[in-house]
Amino acid sequence: MNKNEALTKTETYVRQKLEGEGSGHDWWHIHRVRNTALKLAEKEQADLFIVELAALLHDIADHKFHEGDEKIGPATARKWLEHLDVREPVIKHVCDIIGDVSFKGAEVETPMKTVEGKVVQDADRLDALGAIGIARAFAYGGYKERELYNPEVSPEPHHSFEEYKSSIGPTLNHFYEKLFLLKDRMNTDTGRRLAEKRHHFMKEYVNRFLAEWKGND
Ligand code: ADP
Ligand code: NI
Repeated sequence: MNKNEALTKTETYVRQKLEGEGSGHDWWHIHRVRNTALKLAEKEQADLFIVELAALLHDIADHKFHEGDEKIGPATARKWLEHLDVREPVIKHVCDIIGDVSFKGAEVETPMKTVEGKVVQDADRLDALGAIGIARAFAYGGYKERELYNPEVSPEPHHSFEEYKSSIGPTLNHFYEKLFLLKDRMNTDTGRRLAEKRHHFMKEYVNRFLAEWKGND
């Protein structure tokens, strides 16, 4: 099967699987991440086929929706790519990216081994930031029945993926536990520039949220 055919089939597969998903991990998240990743990939001279496949498949079976099972994402992607008869080195590279891409807690490093991985991670993280990032955070919080904010529950710096995965704090804490940390963890120059812009907008938003909460605005 040629590359274009593999990409078209993968797009159709992912789209039918994630269409209408309600926690901010829907098809349009994948669509945005794919487009951003391809833009970054051109700048970084990364392999476009690997980047596009990994971006399309990166949330195909997320640990967040499968009782914390970290293996299910790469395993589901592998099964699909084997079915398409994609070459083994490509499958391995794509599945390694999917296994490594996620944020795993404030105190946990998540290095990417290849330029293709760096680009996909930056694109996924950019979609967690800015106006869209805010919308996704509250959509996810609602889906998980989290409170918007609770002044009696402080944010926690998670020291392990286990701690991070089992956290049930209010959504506003997620800004301190993950979203505000991302701009300093970007892999590419373009990613960092875009992240800074989105970071400032989110800061302004959270400042207003807290001012309104306190009745100061
Ligand atoms: P990652 O694999 O790094 O977690 P995803 O693409 O799966 O990235 O999506 C992560 C997004 O899911 C977050 O940026 C946020 O919008 C939402 N999310 C995850 N955990 C939480 C949480 N505890 N509270 C609010 N939103 C969350
Ligand atoms: Ni994602």
